[in-house]
Amino acid sequence: MDAAEIARRKTEVARLWGDWTAHNIHLGGDIYTIGPDREADKLRRIVQIVSDLAQKPFEQLRILDLGCLEGGYAIELARRGAAVMAIEGRQANLEKVRFAKDVLGLSNLELVQDDVRNLDPAIHGRFDVVLCLGLLYHLDVPEVFSFVHQIAEGCDGFAIFDTYVGVGSLQRFEYRGHEYWGRVIREHLPQSSKEERLESKWASLDNPNSVWIAHNSLYNLLGDAGFTTAYECNVPVELEKPGDRLTVVAMKGKAQPILAMPRANGSPMGRLPREERRSYSRKQQFWPVTQERLTNLVPLAWRQSIKRRLAASSDRRTPPT
Ligand SMILES: C[S@@+](CC[C@H](N)C(=O)[O-])C[C@H]1O[C@@H](n2cnc3c(N)ncnc32)[C@H](O)[C@@H]1O
Repeated sequence: MDAAEIARRKTEVARLWGDWTAHNIHLGGDIYTIGPDREADKLRRIVQIVSDLAQKPFEQLRILDLGCLEGGYAIELARRGAAVMAIEGRQANLEKVRFAKDVLGLSNLELVQDDVRNLDPAIHGRFDVVLCLGLLYHLDVPEVFSFVHQIAEGCDGFAIFDTYVGVGSLQRFEYRGHEYWGRVIREHLPQSSKEERLESKWASLDNPNSVWIAHNSLYNLLGDAGFTTAYECNVPVELEKPGDRLTVVAMKGKAQPILAMPRANGSPMGRLPREERRSYSRKQQFWPVTQERLTNLVPLAWRQSIKRRLAASSDRRTPPT
């Protein structure tokens, strides 16, 4: 396809489905979906995680991109040779992905228009890598919980969750007998029509509210769903990322028994508490540090002598057994 034809078709797609709002894709020559000077921090982070953690070259990976919007991630990974399935609920978004796929000749990119809550390994297959970027926080309870289980079920390698976490006014929820905390967030006005909701191209498909799972509950949920380890990625750096948004990588490995302490294998893993707060180590707490400094003012020989006398007097007080 020559540059003039790409430009003509791009104008036509924008007329029918609206302008690109988020994903910038180079289509050839000087034609981009948005423009040449856009930042690519999040894309750089995602591609690097896949490259660093996947056990195979891109050409041997099967990747799922959930809620793919305009296809920036799916297309980048398909261009590197991965077999990618991209699922998106809004036709207006998916038509833009279809256009870029055609222009770039990506026969290894499969596009599916569906609600991601229908995800099922029996229908969609299994994947080495699952991208759940900017999506989890658009789901309401209980789907936000069941969806993480659905992702884990069809994932053979790892999943990347780029998501907001709830802070502040948290509510308690239960799913499959476990407690989770999250914050209810408005997605659409309750009186808005189906068409108005579809028009909001980055939002939930239909649910008027979503639940942003709190930081610790997110990690508890990943463990409950069957992921064996989970980490937060901070490099490559995303300078513009707000403090309540994380990139979490959850690995679907094999749970390892402990050989040194076999009895520990029978006990369930601990659960993180409602909120992130944990106590700091004594070396960073005011009173223990002050106490240590004051103690150090007394010469070592004096301290040892005091310790010996205290030990001797406590021996005298302890009755023989
Ligand atoms: C904030 S955008 C994030 C897009 C992209 N993954 C990214 O990180 O840039 C959320 C996307 O998920 C889609 N989406 C939201 N809820 C969905 C659902 N239940 N099923 C399918 N797609 C959904 C929206 O249409 C939108 O394209």
